[in-house]
Amino acid sequence: ARTAVLISGRGTNLQSLLDAASAPDYPAEIALVISNRPDAEGLSRARRAGAPTLTIDHREFGRGEAGRAAFDAALDAALKAAKIELVCLAGFMRLLTPGFVAKWEGRLLNIHPSLLPAFKGLDVHERMIAAGVKIAGCTVHFVTAEMDAGPILGQAAVPVLPGDDAARLAARILEQEHRLYPACLRLVAEGRARLGAGSIAALDVAP
Ligand code: GRF
Repeated sequence: ARTAVLISGRGTNLQSLLDAASAPDYPAEIALVISNRPDAEGLSRARRAGAPTLTIDHREFGRGEAGRAAFDAALDAALKAAKIELVCLAGFMRLLTPGFVAKWEGRLLNIHPSLLPAFKGLDVHERMIAAGVKIAGCTVHFVTAEMDAGPILGQAAVPVLPGDDAARLAARILEQEHRLYPACLRLVAEGRARLGAGSIAALDVAP
């Protein structure tokens, strides 16, 4: 499946998808990497791997609801032009409009560094440490209109250890993110998992 990865920064999850997709039997091809920030480190990762890149700078679309809709329209046009079938959000730090999400429903995946539905949103690691949770992890889910709330494709858990700060915990979770995302994209690309009416309709194999 022709897959686009949307990033805003570092791009280590993008890297894990590029690495997985370099195997001949992997069912998804990273056919486009889009960043909303021209200086995203992930763009260099994509170029190194020979994946086409595109910057759609959100600052050029103005503020407010109209700017957001115009940005998402440009995104949609770029994905269509590249004949993209699946879209993976990987550290993409922008909320997508319900219109865009509806267009890509069932073909739009996200990774989040918590065991959803706990700890949606930002500053997840700080909040988990502050809350004193003993188990943390990451989640790959289908994107629906509500942020970090779509049907879950896969999760991986890690312990929170004594002495952890947000950075140490983030590093432990990130290691699992890099395993989980390629596994979940594989499930969707192979048609073994798909979005039904608001839930996962088929999930043959747990990643
Ligand atoms: C990851 O922790 C991901 O779960 C979250 O943002 C971070 C992106 O990291 N959505 P990277 O850009 O993939 O290195």
